[in-house]
Amino acid sequence: MSSSSPPQTLSALERRKLLVCPSADLKEHQHRIIPIRFKQAPQSAIVLRFGGQVYAYLNQCVHMVRRLDCMHDGIFDTDQDSLRCSMHGIVYDPTTGASKSVLCAGERLEALRTLEIDGQIYLTDKRVRHPT
Ligand code: FES
Repeated sequence: MSSSSPPQTLSALERRKLLVCPSADLKEHQHRIIPIRFKQAPQSAIVLRFGGQVYAYLNQCVHMVRRLDCMHDGIFDTDQDSLRCSMHGIVYDPTTGASKSVLCAGERLEALRTLEIDGQIYLTDKRVRHPT
């Protein structure tokens, strides 16, 4: 008779957790661009910290199919209180992804689920997979 414990099965959450970075590496107003597969297509995610909280969005502007960082690396506006698409300048509320611009008013970035636990930040969205 074996004394080893029964095999552990990973929960659905454990299986879909995608590590972004250690919590300490994402300070206020910092962001990471993470390659992902979203609904089976290659995409990227923006993961950011604002007001101490972690938020994540699909890196795709609501105006045109462009990454928010398509023209330069920054995603925050100069005041650091909004996200800003580098193509035509639509600004977004970092806590909701909602457009704050007249252009595309009422639209919002696609929010992605995150989890910050045990000093690590993960994407946990069911629609997101590892890029490879
Ligand atoms: S593509 Fe983002 S503002 Fe036009």
